[in-house]
Amino acid sequence: MATSEIAVSDTPQPLGPLAKRGWSLHSSKGADADATVSELLKLGDRLGTRVAGRGGSLEEVIQPHGANDAHPRSLSARYGLDALPFHTELSHRTRPCRYLLLGCIDPGSPAAATMLLDWQTLGFSRDDLDLLEGTPVLVRSGRRSFYSTILAPGGAFLRYDPGCLEPVDQRGRMALALVEDRIARASSEAHHWRQGDILIIDNWRVLHGRSPSDRGSGRRLARILIDA
Ligand SMILES: [Fe+2]
Repeated sequence: MATSEIAVSDTPQPLGPLAKRGWSLHSSKGADADATVSELLKLGDRLGTRVAGRGGSLEEVIQPHGANDAHPRSLSARYGLDALPFHTELSHRTRPCRYLLLGCIDPGSPAAATMLLDWQTLGFSRDDLDLLEGTPVLVRSGRRSFYSTILAPGGAFLRYDPGCLEPVDQRGRMALALVEDRIARASSEAHHWRQGDILIIDNWRVLHGRSPSDRGSGRRLARILIDA
């Protein structure tokens, strides 16, 4: 085993901030892509089991796509290089993954920030929460489409993705408009990437989005998704 691998494995990074605010920032010991991905996998293994993303692989490198070369049902297909709206990763699965880990291989130039927003800060009243937990909406996922609610039973997670959620009645329209409106008025946090940065996001608690990007920016993030 190479010396650098021993150095990384000997110093487990603290996960306290993740529990406290729903996301945490880490850095890989080396800034090159291999070191970043290796630290990403190590952190992911501490949290749970890797699950495949939309493209079917357990480990992906994402880069800004124009609307035409993105997965047909992804947010990129709809928003292209514009800002990607806040969403829960894997909203189109019956149980979205618990954690999302992103590692910066190249921040790109111009760089695009990752935006973070804890849904528990959106100021939902008891009535709002009842609406979100009790109103069926359609989750579009081709032949696997299903009905669900925006808020999971007991508030375990918020399922929100303007790319795949559709109302089926007036209450559904109200529920989706409520979340959209609160997000529009919320103050979120922006993470500006540096090479080697790793973000762990509690996907059940913190919505994420992306500021506008550029086709030739070179921005590349490694991504893994974790069930726990
Ligand atoms: Fe995402």
